Amino acid sequence: MSSDPPAAYDSLTYAKVNRLDPHHLYRVREALPDLAGKEVLEVGCGRGHLLHLLQRQGAHAIGVDANPQAVANGAVDGMQVADAGALPFDDARFDALVSVHTIEHLPELDQGLAEMVRVVRPGGRLLLIYPAEPIMGLWAIPTAVILHRNPFKARQVHCQKLTPTRLRARLTTQPVAHDWSDFSWRGWPQYTSVFDRLGG
Ligand SMILES: C[S@@+](CC[C@H](N)C(=O)[O-])C[C@H]1O[C@@H](n2cnc3c(N)ncnc32)[C@H](O)[C@@H]1O
Repeated sequence: MSSDPPAAYDSLTYAKVNRLDPHHLYRVREALPDLAGKEVLEVGCGRGHLLHLLQRQGAHAIGVDANPQAVANGAVDGMQVADAGALPFDDARFDALVSVHTIEHLPELDQGLAEMVRVVRPGGRLLLIYPAEPIMGLWAIPTAVILHRNPFKARQVHCQKLTPTRLRARLTTQPVAHDWSDFSWRGWPQYTSVFDRLGG
């Protein structure tokens, strides 16, 4: 964990630069092939571009994001401001959880992961997409300029340097089973990891 103070996410500019990457919908289809009628939560949904597509697939999908500007300028209904570390939902509320390029932003990663696991029902599934960074914060330099006007604060933005192995290690105490992970160069270097929610 970084000792830097966390980034403050209250920026219209940051909300606007985050755009849909169609590759993420492809990953959703792979990991969660039948979303029709399912209760789905997206954590770190930005302005809701992926959320919109989840809803179009027939999912009852809602999203949370820490940036109030993203929610205020959201593309769809069903978005609310919330921190990944304190999700305002009952246990086992969702059939599936999707989080794209967000877990690397969480200073209290274990708490955020525990919350994500908590709100998914046993038998449900979690899809996590996160950057493959050779150096922690490297891909967050533009965001550090937007949020802090300082590229050297990139490690306050990406405060976790994750790999599938590291992520699995962070989840060993949680009731999940690793399903699959992979690496993709599509767009930029990134990992996808899928976990099945176990009972208990
Ligand atoms: C790189 S953006 C990704 C946005 C969107 N998922 C996408 O792929 O375009 C990271 C998102 O995580 C949000 N975020 C950062 N920390 C968060 C937290 N603790 N709880 C919820 N959302 C958070 C940011 O506001 C931002 O919208």
